[in-house]
Amino acid sequence: MKHSAFIRCRGLTRIYRKGRIEVIPLENLDLDVPEGEFLALMGPSGSGKTTLLNLISGIDRPSSGQLHIGDDDLAGMSRGQLTKWRARSCGYIFQLYHLVPILSAFENVELPLLLKKGLSRADRRRRVAGALELVGLSDRANHRPTELSGGQEQRVAIARAVVADPPLLVADEPTGDLDRESADQILDLLRSLSTDHGKTIVMVTHDARAADAASRVLHLEKGRLVEKSSHAQK
Ligand SMILES: Nc1ncnc2c1ncn2[C@@H]1O[C@H](COP(=O)(O)OP(=O)(O)OP(=O)(O)O)[C@@H](O)[C@H]1O
Ligand SMILES: [Mg+2]
Repeated sequence: MKHSAFIRCRGLTRIYRKGRIEVIPLENLDLDVPEGEFLALMGPSGSGKTTLLNLISGIDRPSSGQLHIGDDDLAGMSRGQLTKWRARSCGYIFQLYHLVPILSAFENVELPLLLKKGLSRADRRRRVAGALELVGLSDRANHRPTELSGGQEQRVAIARAVVADPPLLVADEPTGDLDRESADQILDLLRSLSTDHGKTIVMVTHDARAADAASRVLHLEKGRLVEKSSHAQK
């Protein structure tokens, strides 16, 4: 079935309860993200950006509202179903990379493939090598994270996010800890993943330069979305 948008949120609400305290970081949010879009999400600290990323990546479940991605109804899935959905559908890129320190770049990128059934060792090696090549780090496959620069670590993390070929990537401040040159490399990479590989990308950022690399920018303010600028697909 063909849908108008790849990600469709309707009345999306997340309520956190701790004892008698209730926090509602997202309330009644409507959002459509077309397939292949590179969307930047900005907004003040605490405005619910990570909360929204966690919902659309299946890490967390909405308290109410609808959330469809492609043909999948995420709000209707159990946590177990979401875990399986995530393994094939979504790559997550974190601000601080979250690589496993005792594993090489190659082994870090291989991790998501170990969850996939029916892949031979040779298939896995081929796919890991392809992902490392895509991020320009074929020559660093045997290096551990401590032997890489921050920008290189983030490129390994991107290779890990794309190695299982999910249609969706989410990134939470992926350039937040990087110098300008490394940040630009990461942004170029993300942009080419959307334009050349058709990935749909939702990126949270505090950095106007990063937002500029995206095809659309939305601002989250107290759980509401405001469109402030948009420009033609790059
Ligand atoms: N697990 C949780 N339990 C209770 N409250 C939470 C939880 N996670 C987030 N919150 C609250 O929800 C609100 C939104 O948090 P969120 O992490 O989505 O903000 P953010 O926009 O990503 O902020 P930042 O820019 O600082 O990363 C905050 O008030 C936060 O304290
Ligand atoms: Mg956050």
